[in-house]
Amino acid sequence: MENFTFYSPTYFAFGKDTENDAGAYVKRFGGHKVLIHYGGGSVVRSGLLDRVKKSLDDENIAYVELGGVKPNPRSGLVYEGIDLCKKECIDFVLAVGGGSTIDSSKAIAAGAVYDGDFWDFYSGKYITEALPVGTILTIAAAGSEGSPDSVITKEEGMFKRGATGDAIRPKFSILNPALTQTLPPYQTAAGITDIMAHLHERYLTNSKDVEVTDRLIEGLLLTMIHEGPRVIADPNNYEARANIMWAGMMAHNNSCGVGRSQDWNSHNIEHELSAEYDCVHGAGLAVTMPAVFKYVYKHDVMRFAKLATRVWGCQMDFDNPEATALAGIAALENFLKSIGMPLTFAELGAKEEDIPKLVQALCYGDGRPGYIQGFVKLDTEDCTKIYKMMV
Ligand code: NZQ
Ligand code: ZN
Repeated sequence: MENFTFYSPTYFAFGKDTENDAGAYVKRFGGHKVLIHYGGGSVVRSGLLDRVKKSLDDENIAYVELGGVKPNPRSGLVYEGIDLCKKECIDFVLAVGGGSTIDSSKAIAAGAVYDGDFWDFYSGKYITEALPVGTILTIAAAGSEGSPDSVITKEEGMFKRGATGDAIRPKFSILNPALTQTLPPYQTAAGITDIMAHLHERYLTNSKDVEVTDRLIEGLLLTMIHEGPRVIADPNNYEARANIMWAGMMAHNNSCGVGRSQDWNSHNIEHELSAEYDCVHGAGLAVTMPAVFKYVYKHDVMRFAKLATRVWGCQMDFDNPEATALAGIAALENFLKSIGMPLTFAELGAKEEDIPKLVQALCYGDGRPGYIQGFVKLDTEDCTKIYKMMV
C-alpha cells in the first residue's frame, strides 16, 4: 500500500424528508446569503425547490436562484454564477440536483473567490479556496456529493475537464433516496454504470498488496449487481435506491481509492464523447469501459481474472487465465445491456469518421502531452484503436 492522506469532512444527512433540514444545515455551516443552483427543471416540477426555499425561509436565510445547469455542465453558466455571487455578496452555494448541478456549483464557489479565470483550475491548478458548498442530491451517479472534484465543459473548443481540491468538498450533503424515484430508467441505469465505473477506475491499479480497498470495491460492485436490476424492475424500490445512493457516495469519495494508483483512462476517453455528442456520461462509460478493458487486460491478466471470479462469479481457469479475464469483461457487458445501457458508438450518436478529432482532443486538447496515463499509458494510436473497438 502506498502512503496517502485522506480528508473527507462532508457531513451527510441520509434518508426520507432530510431535504427539509437544508436551511438548518446552511446555518450550521455558516451561510447567510445563499446561491441556490439547479438544473433544467426537474427540481421545480417535483416541488423539491419549493421545499428547500421554505426551509431557508424558516431559518431567515436570504437567497438568490440560478437554474439552467445542463447535463455535462458548461463554462458559460459558471461565469454567470460567479458574477452573481460577487454582485449579491453570496457566502454559500447550495446545489439542488445531480452531479452536473453540483459540479457547476463547485466551479462557481471556487471562481467567486479567485481573481483569475476559473478555467485555470480545470487546466491543472489545485483549488485551495472556495465558498462553502452544500448539496441536495437527486440522482445517484457522479459521486460529486462527497468528492473533491468538478467536471466542466469549456464551450470554446468543447473541452471537458476536471478540477480538484479539498476546498470544494461539500460541507454537507443531503441524500434522500426517495428523491431519485422520479428519474427516467435510462438516467437510473446511467447512474448505476457511472458508479460501477468509479469502482473499476480504482480497481485497475499498479499498486501491490491493497487487499482492504480491493475488497471494499468488490463489495460495492456486488451491491450494484444485486440492487441495479431490482431498481430497474421497480423504480419505487426505496431500499434498493438507498443502497445504490450510498454506494455511489462510497465509490467516489475515495475511501476505496486511497493508497493505490488509479486508472481513469475510461473516464478520460468517455469525456470526449460526452463533450462532442452531449451523450449521458454513464451511457458513454457503458460503451467505453468494455473496449478499454479488452484493450488493456493483458497488462495484468490476474487482476482482471480476480475481478471476474470474485465479482462476476466466473470459474478460474488456471490453464488459461486470459479466458477468465475476458469472461469477466463479457459479464460486465451483459450486465450493462440488461439494465438498458448502450454498447456501441451508434447508440450514442457517435460517428466513426470523428475518431481522429476525438483522439486529438483527448491526447492534445487543452495542453495534454500527446497521451493519457492511467493503469497503462495510451498514446494516440492506442486511443484510436480503442475508439474503433466501440464502433
Ligand atoms: O437538469 P434536471 O432537470 O434536474 O434533469 C436532470 C438531467 O437531465 C435529470 N435528473 C436529475 N435528478 C432527477 C432528474 N430527473 C428526474 N428526477 C430526478 N430526481 O437527470 C439528468 C442528468 O443529471 P446530471 O446532473 O447530469 O447527472 P449526473 O449526476 O450523472 O452528473 C453527470 C455529470 O457529472 C460528471 C459527468 O462528467 C457529468 O458531467 N462527473 C462528475 C464527477 C465528480 N464531480 O466527481 C465524477 C464523475 O465521474 C463524472 O465525470
Ligand atoms: Zn463518472
